Amino acid sequence: MHFLGISGSLRKQSYNTAALQACQQSLPQGVTMSLADIAPVPLYNDDVYKQGFPDSVQRLREQIQAADALLIATPEYNYSMPGVLKNAIDWASRPPAQPFDGKPIALLGATPGGMGTSRAQYQLRQVFVALNAQVLNRPEVFISGAPNKFDADGHLTDAATLDNLGKMLAALADRVRQLRR
Ligand SMILES: Cc1cc2nc3c(=O)[nH]c(=O)nc-3n(C[C@H](O)[C@H](O)[C@H](O)COP(=O)(O)O)c2cc1C
Repeated sequence: MHFLGISGSLRKQSYNTAALQACQQSLPQGVTMSLADIAPVPLYNDDVYKQGFPDSVQRLREQIQAADALLIATPEYNYSMPGVLKNAIDWASRPPAQPFDGKPIALLGATPGGMGTSRAQYQLRQVFVALNAQVLNRPEVFISGAPNKFDADGHLTDAATLDNLGKMLAALADRVRQLRR
């Protein structure tokens, strides 16, 4: 079983990318996980789409198609998801073979703020209704006060958050197994 992680932050010291890296360290048995890179994805332009998917988009689409499930870690920008993440989802969603259709997805997010990216995550849920993805309802992973939960090297050290992430990974693997039956 393979999971693909997508971080909605492009910065090197991103808490959200670090949270996905923490997931890679605590995967259920029999699960592998890689991270997508959305930095090279250009701004969406329908004229470009009509000439064919740019290489970076084609690669992202193939990674999504090949994954059994996705983990999407979103920062919260002005109570919503960052434009770079929405842009990558919009590109990847274009026909043919919309790759989010039926895909199990777990959402998480980290912020120095107190709301744990909850507002951004609920907006992401709405986007994935349009794309007919299967977003897990539980457990929810809202990492608030992030500077207190990661060390200076970007390792997630907060025991309660690690425990919650472990439950989310297990739930995602369970969902994939259910779909295979
Ligand atoms: C344009 C912008 C808007 C932001 N708005 C919010 C917000 O609405 N809520 C919040 O909790 N943090 C907000 N932040 C702070 C981000 O949560 C913070 O920069 C976080 O570290 C970004 O995630 P990253 O560490 O993965 O890059 C905002 C940051 C930026 C750059």
